[in-house]
Amino acid sequence: GQREPVHKGAHQLLVTRQALTGLMMDRSRQLIEQLADGEWHSGEVLAEMLGVSRAAVWKRLQALEGLGLELEATRGKGYRLARKLELLSEQNIGAGLRQSLKYVVPVEVFSQIDSTNVYLMSGDVAPAAVFAEYQSAGRGRRGRAWCSPFGANLYFSFAWRFETMPPQLPALSLAVGVSLAETLSAKGAGGLGLKWPNDLLWQGRKLGGILIEHRGEAAGPCRVVVGVGLNLAMTSTQGAAIDQGWVSLEEILRSGGHALPSRNELATQLIARLHQCLEQFAHSGFDSFHPRWEALDVSRNQVVRIQQEKETIEGLAQGVDRSGALLVQVRGERCRFFSGEISLRVKQSA
Ligand code: BTN
Repeated sequence: GQREPVHKGAHQLLVTRQALTGLMMDRSRQLIEQLADGEWHSGEVLAEMLGVSRAAVWKRLQALEGLGLELEATRGKGYRLARKLELLSEQNIGAGLRQSLKYVVPVEVFSQIDSTNVYLMSGDVAPAAVFAEYQSAGRGRRGRAWCSPFGANLYFSFAWRFETMPPQLPALSLAVGVSLAETLSAKGAGGLGLKWPNDLLWQGRKLGGILIEHRGEAAGPCRVVVGVGLNLAMTSTQGAAIDQGWVSLEEILRSGGHALPSRNELATQLIARLHQCLEQFAHSGFDSFHPRWEALDVSRNQVVRIQQEKETIEGLAQGVDRSGALLVQVRGERCRFFSGEISLRVKQSA
């Protein structure tokens, strides 16, 4: 009826704007690719390469700074990144996965996206891996935001299909935590731990987080999206908005005399391990991960405070059960806590 033309017009506008954003992002991507080497590049050369004015280059770089990319500008020299950047590459990760897995896993890399989890939750392909250099609406657990400055860390999601919903599904995030910790330990990161339900920690500081979302009915097939955010080389400026202690893999590796591995290589290995983890989980659930999780558990035998909606409970943490529930001794009674309901704070020992 009367509304139709308005609706059509709005739709058209949206399509055009999306196409434009895509085009702009292509140019910005070219720009970052030029700057990735960490050397100085003159505004003039950059402008020529992109076929735009120097003012346009400057504007585009300002926009990238707005995404958290750290840039330096000096009159006479031009621009350079605060540090060299190895951009993620679909070809590189895809080829690596073809070598290490017997399956083909489609890989997509976005320069920017709202959230890799949101993207995969609305899709159907599985398995599938999606990475982003920047997320404008990165999601953390419990409705929090996940700080996702451009190129500083790894932000990725992995989609999987279970023929029927595994009864131990709540424990999947624990299994994923084990896989992450083991993969990174093999890279030389010593002293990693897991805090229930799924924080990856080092000396009490958060290195990474896992957000699992799923859709499907209890009886039928189930699509699961495993989202992982892993701090690689975030600067204090880039991470300024984070309201808890955090650490980057680079700092952990440096303290053990190791260098940060290639981002593409790490990305490939993490997906390969995640693939393995999900296969194993589909086959035998949490059981084979259980002892490995407990070996990494930082809260074991610690007094913990569990914040629930209305009350705070204190007790002695005693690991997890087969379903991934946290076991806590509260006033002589053993209680089980389930993921998603509560947050847990390991009490600082005085
Ligand atoms: C947590 O709160 O500890 C979980 C953080 C999970 C963040 C990752 S980053 C990639 C993926 N996309 C998102 O929006 N969130 C997850």
